[in-house]
Amino acid sequence: MSTLFSPFQLQSLTLRNRIAIPPMCQYQAVDGLSNDWHWAHYAALGRGGAGLVIVEATAVAAEGRITPACLGLWQDAQIDGLARIAHAIKAGGAVPGIQLAHAGRKANANPPWLGDNQIAAEDPAAWTTLAPSALAYGHHLPRIPQAVTRQQISRIQADFVAAAKRALAAGFEWLELHFAHGYLAQSFLSVHSNRRTDDYGGDLAGRARFLLETLSAVRQVWPSHLPLTVRLGVIEYDDRDEETLQESIQVLQQLRQLGLDLVSVSVGFTIAETRIPWRPAFLAPVTARVRRETGLAVASAWGIDAAEDAERVVAEQQMDLVMIGRAHLANPHYPYRLAQQLGIPEPESLLPAPYAHWLTRYQ
Ligand code: FNR
Repeated sequence: MSTLFSPFQLQSLTLRNRIAIPPMCQYQAVDGLSNDWHWAHYAALGRGGAGLVIVEATAVAAEGRITPACLGLWQDAQIDGLARIAHAIKAGGAVPGIQLAHAGRKANANPPWLGDNQIAAEDPAAWTTLAPSALAYGHHLPRIPQAVTRQQISRIQADFVAAAKRALAAGFEWLELHFAHGYLAQSFLSVHSNRRTDDYGGDLAGRARFLLETLSAVRQVWPSHLPLTVRLGVIEYDDRDEETLQESIQVLQQLRQLGLDLVSVSVGFTIAETRIPWRPAFLAPVTARVRRETGLAVASAWGIDAAEDAERVVAEQQMDLVMIGRAHLANPHYPYRLAQQLGIPEPESLLPAPYAHWLTRYQ
C-alpha cells in the first residue's frame, strides 16, 4: 500500500494523491497577463497525474512582481486567462491552486536567464520597490526599497483580498499566500529585514502583524469550504535557527486560529548569507516538527523527488503532501514514473485515456 498514492482530503476537496506541484514562475507574462505558454504548461501538469497544481507566484499589485514578466491578478482583465488555466488543470484531474504574492524588496528584477539582477533605476522598466524597512536585500538586488507607510500596508492587504476574489472568480479551489522566500510578508516577519518602530515591527507580535491581518482579511472572502494555505519560510539556516523556528511555529498557531488550513513549509531566503544544507529532502525533519507542534496539515518541497523519499516522508507522517517541482519541468507526467517505480497497480490510470490506452496496448 502506498501512502503517496492515497487520496488527501482538506476541507471539501479530495486530492487524488499526495503529489503536489509547487508554484514555479515561468516569467512569460506581459502586463501580468497569462498567455498560450502558461495554458500549455499548466494543462500538461494538470493531466500529468499530480493531485494538486499550484500556479506560480501571481502578483497582487503591479509593484509586487518579481520581474516585469510575472503573472498578476491586480485587475479584472487578468481573470479570463487564468480561468482557462484553472479549467484545464481541473479537466486533467488535479485540483487547481494559485499562489498570491507581493515580492517586496525583491521586486523589479530581470528574469533569471536575463541576468537575475535588479533593473537599473534609470531604465524605463524600473519601479519603486516597497518593503517593511528601507533595507536592501543586497547582492544582485542592491536597490534600497521604500519603507511602506501604514496607508500602503492597508492598500497591499486590500490588494491581497481583491486578488483572492479574482482567483475565486477564475475557478481556483486552493489558495496559497506567499509568506516565504524573502518577499514582502516574509520580510515583515524576519528580524533581518524589519526594523520598524511602529506596531508592524519590533517584537514577534509586531513583525507577525502583517501576516496575521492579511490572512484574516483573505479568509473573510475565501470560502470556508476551500483550503486557504500559506507558504512560510520557517528557517533561514543562519545563526538563529531555533529562535526563527519557534517564532514561526507560534505564528502558524495564530494563523491556524484565524482559519489557516495548511502550511507549505519552506526556507526564509531573507538574506543571502546562509548555510542551507542542500541535499535530498533536507527540510523534511523541520517540516515534521512544524506538523507536530502546530497540528496543521503540512506540505514541503526541495529535492523530494526520488520515489523512495517521496513515499517515505508521507508514510512517516513528516508531511501530508509532497511538493515536487523541477522533476515536473523535465517530465509533466512524473507521477506516472513514480507510480511505476513504486509498483502501483495500473500506473497508466493516472494519465488520460489518449495516453493511458497506448501505454498498455502492445504488451
Ligand atoms: C520556484 N520556486 C517558487 N516558489 C514559490 O513559492 N513561488 C514561485 O513562484 C516559485 N517559482 C519558482 C520557479 C522555478 C523555475 C523554480 C525551479 C522554483 C520554488 C519551488 O516552488 C520549489 O520549492 C523548488 O523548485 C524546490 O522543489 P524541487 O524543484 O526540488 O522539487
